[in-house]
Amino acid sequence: MSSIIDTVIAHHREYFPRSADCALFASPGRINIIGEHIDYNGGNVLPAAIDKHIYICISRNNDGIIRFVSANHKETGEVAINNLHSPQTKAHAAHAWWVYPYGACVLSNIEFDCGLDFSFYSTLPVGAGMSSSASITVGTLYALYSLNNIIIKSKDLALQAQKVEWDFAGVKCGIMDQMAIINGKKDNAIMLNTKTMEFSYVPVDTSAVRFILVNSGVKHSLRESGYNDRRRECDRALLLLKEAGFAINELCDCSVDDLIQIQNILPQTEYKRTYHVITENNRVLQFAREIQQYNLTKAGELLYKSHQSLSVYYEVSIPLIDEMVEWASDIDGVYGSRLMGGGFGGCTINMVALYAVEHFTRTIAQKFKKKENRTPEIYECSIEDGTRRIE
Ligand code: GLA
Repeated sequence: MSSIIDTVIAHHREYFPRSADCALFASPGRINIIGEHIDYNGGNVLPAAIDKHIYICISRNNDGIIRFVSANHKETGEVAINNLHSPQTKAHAAHAWWVYPYGACVLSNIEFDCGLDFSFYSTLPVGAGMSSSASITVGTLYALYSLNNIIIKSKDLALQAQKVEWDFAGVKCGIMDQMAIINGKKDNAIMLNTKTMEFSYVPVDTSAVRFILVNSGVKHSLRESGYNDRRRECDRALLLLKEAGFAINELCDCSVDDLIQIQNILPQTEYKRTYHVITENNRVLQFAREIQQYNLTKAGELLYKSHQSLSVYYEVSIPLIDEMVEWASDIDGVYGSRLMGGGFGGCTINMVALYAVEHFTRTIAQKFKKKENRTPEIYECSIEDGTRRIE
């Protein structure tokens, strides 16, 4: 840990040589073991915070300016405290990487009485579906509240971070990423009910299984528009079901038994989306039961089923990811594999027996290279604590 702390502080001092005391925070990325595209439909999801972080270093300045620099981006951001809330500043930030920490400063509603220098240093890959945007946003909010000695519930902080994505970056994301990042706990997944926002921890025995991500390297242009489209389709399905007399507030209020009736009510696209949502919600609960009883094979099968449903019914996969899941399923020691996150590219998450990790990594890389003529990025993730101050 100390070497990363030294590196991050040295990076901060390089940009801000006049900075005296700086505070340092670590905000993790997340994996989602199962429960995809149901966190905006009142479903249950099972994410976990991981050992890849965005480090946030902050010091005060007397210039009345909030500055954002990053070891991972050339561009830097600067906003005068007096202009923080101006529409022009918001429009200017909209396409910059620093839109997230900027949005966090605005929505925190903190009265800034001096400027702040922020530097970011990331070991979390961007665009791979590990929620770097939620990590930086949650991390910035956490840092701001901590520096100002403000106590806020983790749920409220998560909701604020979600609002940053909605209002500043234009993505109508659910609440899973933010809740996982703020509430992460070592060696535990988080069973989050996105309807009530209640959660409990589900231990993951890392001496039995590991979660390994394989990055397709595809960053699809449909990513944001496709995501918002799916949300709209679900909203429409909900509306139609309510009109047909269903007493529900969210799609996940329906049960698998309702599907026969639902098929007669909804147009084909809305039915397919609803089918995924309802069956996925069921799979999450089943997965948590199986993994706690060490039925790893059964748990893994649910991951394959989740993928099938995301691909066929929710239509957020791409041919390369379908193939990656297929390849994984042929490798010894793999319990399950599926597309992770919003889709249209990004990573697969693979549940692999500890003894098979090396074999899996080598074999999947070979298969990928043979087909794509490039080596994929592979991340073995351990499950770690959520956002915290480290110095
Ligand atoms: C993205 C969103 C999440 C969630 C997933 C899909 O990661 O940020 O809220 O909807 O996609 O499960």
